[in-house]
Amino acid sequence: MLFNVNIDHVATLREARGGIEPSVLDAALIVEKCGCDAITVHLREDRRHIQDDDLFTIMKSVNIPINLEMALSEEIIDIALKLKPKQITIVPERREELTTEGGFDIVRYFDKATSMLSVFAETGILLSLFIDPDEDQISASKAAGVDIIEIHTGEYSNSSTSDAISFELNRISKAAIKGKELDLQVAAGHGLNYSNIAPIVKILEIEELNIGHSIISRSVFVGLERAILEMKKLVEVL
Ligand code: PXP
Repeated sequence: MLFNVNIDHVATLREARGGIEPSVLDAALIVEKCGCDAITVHLREDRRHIQDDDLFTIMKSVNIPINLEMALSEEIIDIALKLKPKQITIVPERREELTTEGGFDIVRYFDKATSMLSVFAETGILLSLFIDPDEDQISASKAAGVDIIEIHTGEYSNSSTSDAISFELNRISKAAIKGKELDLQVAAGHGLNYSNIAPIVKILEIEELNIGHSIISRSVFVGLERAILEMKKLVEVL
């Protein structure tokens, strides 16, 4: 299981004051030191947390891969082509949202998305698409030629009754199996925390996790290194 740590919210805290601390680069170096597989960052169009300079600095200074989450916008695509991270993850983005609220609707935007994604052919950058656990979205992702689907686990994370949790886990599991059947790599993320991660780790088709908010939240109390290592232990349980 690949374990990628999303450090956006270190930048969120920094941007709250507009200064230089906490350092996003130091956070990236700690993720690397903890033996994680990649650093995930979302360069949002409104630059509410990660800034362009953060990306350039992190890429220069760490040796583990970067998974760049991004909207399909011309401006951000140009930056991705310049930076050439190992992986990009396409997410939907709305300015008024607090976080990425749903998966990218590749069924609806198939023609536009495939045409915009074509600039990444031959670049060697792995393409991941953040989608809801839905069969049609997975088939369309395959047809769009991406390498990886990242299953949005937000509905699961927000479920509170055991029926709803089972229902959502079943959807995620079926989506992961379908992804593997289509020869796609399967990732998952959003809203995963220390309490809800265990059933997700047991879905063997899921090969990559991207986890941010819960780790950065816990780091306020126990420090970033310990927060990451505690989650790493839960992720590597099998
Ligand atoms: N995966 C994707 C594609 C995301 O957009 C996010 C949120 O930035 C995450 C994973 C991580 O979600 P969280 O911060 O809730 O762990």
